[in-house]
Formats: sequence, structure tokens, C-alpha cells
Amino acid sequence: MMPTLLHLDSAIADPASRSRILTAECARGWQSRGADFDVVTRDLHLDPPPHLRERSQHWPERLREGEPLDEATDALQRELIAELLAADAVVLGAPMYNYAVPSTLKAWIDLVHVPGITAAFDTPTQPFAGRSALIVTTQGGGPDPVIDAFVSAPLRQLFGGGFGMEVTVVAARRTLVDRIPSLGVVEAEGEFEAALSGAFEWGATVPVGGV
Ligand SMILES: Cc1cc2nc3c(=O)[nH]c(=O)nc-3n(C[C@H](O)[C@H](O)[C@H](O)COP(=O)(O)O)c2cc1C
Repeated sequence: MMPTLLHLDSAIADPASRSRILTAECARGWQSRGADFDVVTRDLHLDPPPHLRERSQHWPERLREGEPLDEATDALQRELIAELLAADAVVLGAPMYNYAVPSTLKAWIDLVHVPGITAAFDTPTQPFAGRSALIVTTQGGGPDPVIDAFVSAPLRQLFGGGFGMEVTVVAARRTLVDRIPSLGVVEAEGEFEAALSGAFEWGATVPVGGV
């Protein structure tokens, strides 16, 4: 079996996107380990998942209380969960959009987080436990002890607490420094360089599968 990295992006698909540069660097690190190190990409911006249609989609079949499921959304939900299950590790690009994760990423989360199937609920189910996830987050503004956590905290909770994965966060802030130089040109460059090497290093060394 080829070791597989699931590479997710959710930023607007712009060549200047910092989070996309960083997730690509992580994938480069992963592929530096050998020709059999495979990368599966899913672009949540170019191919956005739909929002949940029914409340029952948040629950395993045994807890759905007979509510009907939309077939197409059900099939997509199964596909997204299977894709995550097939991955030995995950890198996720998560820019800050209006103090939150992009809505495309949130739609994906709402489909893959199913208590009792992909996370613990009334049973200790955690099929992703022990696998590793890298959260790459970017924000235009400078460091702020409250705002910095708006993207990373819910993702840490979901991937770490919910899925039981080993979570690492790489952050690049001040990305709007070209427009707002007072954010600190030197600091912005330094933080981005550190994020680049952190992302590559994670890809090149992260344990394959469960730890
Ligand atoms: C729709 C939108 C909303 C944004 N909201 C915020 C914000 O709330 N706080 C912030 O610091 N930067 C904000 N920014 C700036 C982005 O976080 C910044 O440009 C970041 O680098 C985007 O990720 P990317 O470089 O991968 O595209 C926003 C940008 C966009 C396009």
C-alpha cells in the first residue's frame, strides 16, 4: 500500500495564496520520502461540497430516527469519509476568512464529522485515532492572542479531540503586509520562511498512519 497524504486546500485559488504555497511545500516534503509516497488532493474552493441538507446527515444510521437521506449528498458524504479514512496523514490549508474558517471548509467538516462513525459519541469510535494532521493557517493581520485561535482552535478540537489525531499547526500571519507595511515586513517574511520549513519538515518526517 502506498503511503497517502490527503492534501486539502480551501483558500481562493490564487497563485499568491500563502496557505496553498505552504500545503504544497508540505506535499513536497512528503514526496521527498520516495516515489511510492502518494498525494491525493481535494480542492474545497474549486470543488466546494454542499451544505448539509438534513439533520440526519450528522448522525449514524442507527440514530437517524427514520429521517430520509438525500441520495446524492449521502453518496458524497460516504466518499469524503472514505477518502479521509484512506489517508495516512492529512494536510489542511485553512486561511482566516472573516475571523473563521472558509465556508467551503466548514461544509466539508459538517459532512465528515459524524459522531458514532468518525468520532466518539455513545461509543468510543475514533477510526482516525493516532494519525497525524497538519493545520496550515494564514491570516492577513498580525498576531493577536484572541484572534489567532479563531481558525486553529476549532480545527484542533475537531481533528485532535473529535478524531483523536495528532495535530500540528503551522501559522503564517501578517500576510497582508504588502498592503499594510506597518504589520512588519521583516517579521512577516521571517514567519513565512519558518512556516515553509515547518510544513516541509512535517511532510518529510511525520509518521505514516497511526502513531
Ligand atoms: C474573504 C476574506 C476574509 C478575510 N478575513 C480576514 C480576517 O478576518 N482576519 C485576517 O487577519 N485576515 C483576513 N483576510 C486576509 C486573509 O486571511 C489573508 O489574505 C490570508 O493570507 C488568506 O490566505 P491565502 O494567502 O492562502 O489566500 C481575509 C481575506 C479574505 C479574502
